[in-house]
Parts: sequence; structure tokens; C-alpha cells
Amino acid sequence: MDIRVDGKVALVTGASRGIGEATAAELLASGAAGVTITSRKEPNIAEAASRLNDDRVLPLAARADSEADAESAVAATVERFGRLDILVNNAGTNPAAGNLADVDLGAVGKTWEVNQLGPLLWARAAWRHSMAANGGAIVNVASVGGMRVGPVIGAYNVSKAALIHMTYHLANEMAPAVRVNAVAPSVVRTRLSAALWQGIEEHTAKSHPLQRIGEPEDVARAIVFLASDAASWITGVVLPVDGGVTGAAASPGLGG
Ligand SMILES: NC(=O)c1ccc[n+]([C@@H]2O[C@H](COP(=O)([O-])OP(=O)(O)OC[C@H]3O[C@@H](n4cnc5c(N)ncnc54)[C@H](OP(=O)(O)O)[C@@H]3O)[C@@H](O)[C@H]2O)c1
Repeated sequence: MDIRVDGKVALVTGASRGIGEATAAELLASGAAGVTITSRKEPNIAEAASRLNDDRVLPLAARADSEADAESAVAATVERFGRLDILVNNAGTNPAAGNLADVDLGAVGKTWEVNQLGPLLWARAAWRHSMAANGGAIVNVASVGGMRVGPVIGAYNVSKAALIHMTYHLANEMAPAVRVNAVAPSVVRTRLSAALWQGIEEHTAKSHPLQRIGEPEDVARAIVFLASDAASWITGVVLPVDGGVTGAAASPGLGG
């Protein structure tokens, strides 16, 4: 079955590279009528827009942890394309490496604001500006680290666990108008997770039953499926996109 999003309008946060940019490309290839892409830095998002090279793309600089930026980006999307059908809460950060007992609290706060509060701000803006009246689908990008304990990235994993639980809450509160789901990737070849694969890729790949790390497109395809009408009876689920690690025997050390 061909997964299509023909005529739908989407917004992807954190789309200047990695999983977000791949998701924007996949949405365009699957027939989206318009795709707003956002990230913090204007030059980065402008470069992504020129790589995507499609007049259905609206690039905007917007911080994931800013209510004002979420409101104005969603409003600009509705103004340009008429509505918002799909929100992909993809932006994420991981500046807080270390054990929770002594990791820098400023970094913990930033991680939780971007990864945990941010998706709520964008979901609320999408709900108010379009989805409460017109319906829609939200996909949150969580992590396998949100489902189990891993070393060094506790603050990040806690934020992803919260995002997973928020997915369940929003799915209940926004039904039946809006479906809310999440994907939980393992290690994917992006800048964010470079410490988990760069120079050690063979080792990391072997920890996955499918014997490779993920590519941004692996996650993008799962996101587009959950956002599409092919998933019209699916809400409040977390789909691992993880080369099999969630179902495998314990393999400590994997996060992402
Ligand atoms: N890669 C993995 O192994 C992996 C595994 C599990 C989950 N994930 C999740 O996947 C999502 C995408 O990450 P990625 O791996 O694709 O990383 P990435 O390649 O580093 O991309 C991160 C994106 O988020 C943007 N961003 C960062 N902080 C932001 C902020 N405060 N406000 C707005 N945009 C911000 C970045 O753009 P600017 O720098 O231009 O702002 C960039 O576009 C994240 O939620 C991450 O936690 C990744």
C-alpha cells in the first residue's frame, strides 16, 4: 500500500537536518499540499529549504521551547496554506550528559524545556489555530531511551519518557478530532547521536537485531505512516523504530 498525505498541510519542528528534514522530504514526496519547516537558526532552515527546493515549503526560524514562536509559526502556516493537518514534534536536544545526581541543572532544564514542554506548546498552538475545528494528526518524536534506563543521558531519557506519557494524555484529550502518536527511534545516523555511532558504528550496529543503525529516512517513513489516513484507527501508541532493540534481549548502552 502506498502511504499518501495528498492535500494535507504539515509542520515539522527541528527540520533543518536529520530526521526532521527527512520527514519534510517524505511528506512532500507523499503529496503534502504544504510543509512548514522550523528550527532555531534562520540560516540552517533556509539551507534546508533550498535543499528541499519545493515551493510547497515554508521555512521559519522558531525555537521549539518558545510559546510565542509556536503560536506565530502555526498562525503563519494557517495563513499561507489555510489550515494545519499534521504536526510533527521532532525538535530535540541533549546537552546534559552525566548522571542525574550531579549533571548541570541548567542543561537539564534546557533539555526538559525543548524536549518535553516544547511539544506541548506546539500541540496547543496546532489545536487552537486549526486542529480543534478541522481535525488532524500529531506525531511526537520520542526515543527508545524514554522506555528504559540508559547510562549518561538520563535527563534526555526522562524528557522522552514524559513525552511518551504526554502522547497518551493528548491522544485521550484530543480524540476524536485529533490522533496523537509517537515514534521511538534507537540510534539514527544524525548529528544529535554522533557520540553513539561515530567511530563505533560496527559495534552499535551489532547491538541491533537488524545489524545496522537507523537512517533518518527509516524514521521519516514511520512518521508519515502515523500522520496519514492509513493510520486512521491508531491513536495513543508509541511505535519503536529501532532495528529491533526494544524486542531484543537487554542490550545496555543504547539510547539516542
Ligand atoms: N538520532 C538519534 O539517534 C535519535 C534517537 C532517538 C530520538 N531522536 C530524536 O529525533 C529528533 C530529531 O533529532 P535528530 O537526531 O534528527 O538530530 P539533529 O540532526 O541534530 O537535528 C535536530 C534538529 O532540531 C533543531 N533544534 C535543536 N534545538 C532546537 C530548538 N531549541 N528549537 C528549535 N529547533 C531546534 C536543529 O536545528 P537548529 O540547530 O537549526 O535549531 C535540528 O534541525 C529529536 O527529538 C531526537 O531527540 C534521535
